[in-house]
Formats: sequence, structure tokens, C-alpha cells
Amino acid sequence: MRKLKDKIFEVGAIDWDRTLFDELVPLPDGTSYNSYLILGSEKTALIDTVEPYKKDIFFRHIKEVGIDRIDYLISNHAEQDHSGCIPFVLEKYPDCKVVTNAKCKSFLIEHLHIPDEKFIEIKEGDTISLGDKTLEFIMTPWVHWPETMSTYLQEDKILFSCDFFGSHRATSNLFVKDEYKVVEDAKRYYAEIMMPFRSHIKRNIEKIEKKEIDIIAPSHGPVYDKPSLIIDAYKDWISDRVENKVLIPFVSMHDSTEHLVNELVERLMNKGIEVIPYNLTVTDVGEFAMALVDAGTIVFGSPYVLGGLHPQCVYAAYLANALRPKVKFVSMIGSFGWGGKGVEQLKSLISNLKAEWIEPVMVKGLAKEEDFERLDNFVEEIVKRHESL
Ligand code: FEO
Repeated sequence: MRKLKDKIFEVGAIDWDRTLFDELVPLPDGTSYNSYLILGSEKTALIDTVEPYKKDIFFRHIKEVGIDRIDYLISNHAEQDHSGCIPFVLEKYPDCKVVTNAKCKSFLIEHLHIPDEKFIEIKEGDTISLGDKTLEFIMTPWVHWPETMSTYLQEDKILFSCDFFGSHRATSNLFVKDEYKVVEDAKRYYAEIMMPFRSHIKRNIEKIEKKEIDIIAPSHGPVYDKPSLIIDAYKDWISDRVENKVLIPFVSMHDSTEHLVNELVERLMNKGIEVIPYNLTVTDVGEFAMALVDAGTIVFGSPYVLGGLHPQCVYAAYLANALRPKVKFVSMIGSFGWGGKGVEQLKSLISNLKAEWIEPVMVKGLAKEEDFERLDNFVEEIVKRHESL
């Protein structure tokens, strides 16, 4: 158990060893499922729970606080890393009510079979009194599910934001210690699950900024005792600004595409453009996702295999398309033996990207002198387009 403030405790679980989330997102530094227990003068409230497999440590932490009842369980988000222990809490504290919005309630009934009579349904701006403390509910949809909401503790000026502003890191530090590291973690987290919802995030930030906030307590990673640190970072990520940066996610079967990628990297570097190649056979896709947050251009690199793109390139394109980064320009380079439809396939895979297409450089076999001239022109085109950023 960790004390956040007088009468407010973090009772969740640190997951030091988890390496993958949703069987999709790599977790190089583990994660935490933060749950907060608030002791009012009359009532006690628990905000969110933890993954079911962490229930023993969760209930140990609750016991350490020394309470004999929980009156309200606030569910900010129905995903099971926060809701999974709700049935166990209801079993242990039979008088406890689950407090949430209508959509989250419907999800909890569907996913966890919680009986209808266990709920208190709230909507935007509603409050619940704990005696000397008041919880106010702020609907913050699509961070990152449609039902997500935040809970504001008025007297202590704490925003419990659940996934919103969170980061995946297992740490015993309750509060942010290394600001740079936490913002990098939060950027990766934003990239992996929040980035497709930029316009919703903008509206949510406008809404929460109407509140006076001293502390933001998310349900993953450390708590922010300087809220501007993460709010300003989010504002930058959701802005239209991109950097003079080119990402090259690539795969190469017999080195011809890699040779071309290496030549492109050198040429872009010589023009003063930041460039990051990602060899897709070994890269951490979370790193690629994080770089997508503010990259100006993506150049996919792939040979043609079985008449189209290499499957690793298909995956990278699918991921970029799903994450909807604000990238401004996109293209492709690669090598082929006798032909294929990789360029057309790539275009069809990235239809969500509102990016201008730059004419690709596809080379037959190993690049020759005339191919490098095309590559020089390709670089000039990127330089010219980046001047407008
Ligand atoms: Fe941390 Fe969307 O669950």
C-alpha cells in the first residue's frame, strides 16, 4: 500500500514481469494497475481495481489500510486490467455499489456478468459525497474506449484519469521521479493506444482544464504531482506539428532493399533530416509506434515476395494505418526480382493516413547508378516537402 495523501491510498498492484499487453503491445518495463482508496468522513470509495491475477496483493493492500467496508467502487473504464477484480470486491463487500456511466455499466454487465442492481448510474457532472470529500464525474470518452471517464476529487483537487495520461512502467515510486523517463513512457503509451483518438483527447483536455488540478493519478504508471508536465506533453502530441523526421520501417530478404535503405539513411542525414530505420524483423513495434507520434514522413521499405509486399511490411503498414499518426508524407522504396503489386498494395493499406504520396523508388535487383540518381531525386523531394513543415 502506498499513501497518496492523508486518507487517500494507492492499493493496486505492480506487475514487474509483464512483457505484453493485449497480446499486442510490448511492455519493456512492466506496468502497474493503480487503484485508489479514499476514506471520507462518512463513506469509503475505491477507484478502479486490478487484473484478476493480481487480486491477492490488491486485497492485501486494502487490508493494510484497515477498513471494514467499501461503499462505492468507481469504475472509470471497463477494460479488465481495471475492472477485473470488481466481482471479487462485491463478493467481499456485499453492500458496495459500482458507480459508473451507462455505457461502462453495460460493458461491465456484458464482460463480467455483474448484476444490474449492483450499480449506481451517473452522468456528466454528477457528484457523490463521502462526507468531507466529494467525487465528481467527468466523461472523457475514447481514451481509449467509448465509455472511459475520469473522477475528480474536489476537495483534494485530484483527477483520477484511469488510462488517460497513463504510462506502462513498474516502479515503486508512487510519484514521478524522473520527468524525462516518465514522459517518454507516456508517449509510448499514447502512441500505442491513444493516438487514433486525437480529436477526442483535445476535447477531453479542454474539459478537464476547467478544473483546478493539483495531482493527476492515472491507473498505470506514476502519479503526476505537476500535472502540467503530462498535459503539456499531450497537447504537443495531439497538435498538428510534426518534426523534420523520416521513419523507414523496412524488411530485406537478400540485402538489396537494406542496401537501398542504408543509402537513403546516409543521404537524408547529409541533408540534416533526422532519420530512423526500423528493421522489422528485430524492431520493437512500440518504438516504431512512439516515433510515429511526430514524424513528418514514413518511407516503407520492402522487397516484393509472392507478388506483393513482404508480410512484415504489411504488418507495419497496417499498424501505422490503425494508429492514424499525423504524418504528412509517405512513400516506399524496395527491390524486386521480376515484378509485383507492392506499391498498390501499400496504398490500399494506409488509406487512413492523411498524407501526401511521394513517388516511390522501386529497383529491379541490386541498385545501380541510375537507381541512386532516382534516390537522390527522391531525397530532394523529401527535403522540399519538409521545408513546408
Ligand atoms: Fe488500462 Fe484500457 O486499460
